[in-house]
Amino acid sequence: MDRNLALEFVRITEFAALASARHMGRGNEKAADQAAVDSMRRAFDSVNIDGTVVIGEGERDEAPMLYIGEKVGRKGPDAPKVDIALDPLEGTTICAKGGVGAISVIAIAQQGKFLHAPDTYMDKIACGPAAFGVIDIKLSATENVHRVAEALKKSLEDMTVVILDRPRHEALITEVRKTGARIRLIGDGDVSAGIAPCWPDSGMDLLLGIGGAPEGVITAAALKCMGGDFQGRLAFRNEKEKERASKMGVKDLHKAYSRDELAQGDVMFCATGVTDGPLLQGVRFLPEKRASTQSIVMRSATGTTRIIEARHDFSIKPLW
Ligand code: FBP
Repeated sequence: MDRNLALEFVRITEFAALASARHMGRGNEKAADQAAVDSMRRAFDSVNIDGTVVIGEGERDEAPMLYIGEKVGRKGPDAPKVDIALDPLEGTTICAKGGVGAISVIAIAQQGKFLHAPDTYMDKIACGPAAFGVIDIKLSATENVHRVAEALKKSLEDMTVVILDRPRHEALITEVRKTGARIRLIGDGDVSAGIAPCWPDSGMDLLLGIGGAPEGVITAAALKCMGGDFQGRLAFRNEKEKERASKMGVKDLHKAYSRDELAQGDVMFCATGVTDGPLLQGVRFLPEKRASTQSIVMRSATGTTRIIEARHDFSIKPLW
């Protein structure tokens, strides 16, 4: 994949972040998400790719834009064929409440290289590069906390495990507390939280628990670029979800996927902060119709991570 594309993709997440950040704290999740989706969809038109959305806003009948299977990009004569996993606003509730860690995000791979994850849950485990190779989703949370602590040369008491604050995690939380590790319970946003252990000063060492499966694929792509580790196993709520997964090509419903099975080959990852979070600063609206954004762009081929600070002048270039 052409490395120059990475910078093109940043424009897309910047636009989506700027549009949704206007809705921060306004209590309207739908409006925030819609603004992000609309902007991201339009921004794709300016990038010369022949893209297919494989992780998107949902099935065609339930999402009018950026649905699974939708073709995006300018599709010029030499446009590369790529698959796209996206979430225009990861953390809609966070944005609507003005909370911590909403981002706009895209991951890109060559055709056929992302797991076509159905819109179900995924049991996840994610850690930073220092603990690569030691996690195993088939083992207990206790065993994984011990293994990561050892790899990080930390005492259990100094470990911080991130878990989505959900009733389904009651037993997990109790188990992790018994290890002596500290827990950071988050309301939403397990993509940012899954990437955070790769960030030395994020204060998070390990992500555990069940979140969205599409978000799992996006997180795997990010961790591949950063050298972190990730494993995921689909978690179904009912038979209908299992049927849907089978239809989407999932052969083994109980498979524990490695990071590189979820995101194969070379991948790119790009995200822009909507609200302040562990990874990125959120959008700042500045005097005189200006705004600033902070984004991260990464490629697994080189492992280079770029933080891009941008100033936007709406008097010259309006959002739309
Ligand atoms: P949205 O941005 O789609 O609202 O997702 C937020 C999120 O917290 C994800 O980060 C996470 O994977 C998922 O929702 C968890 O789902 P649920 O809220 O059903 O527990």
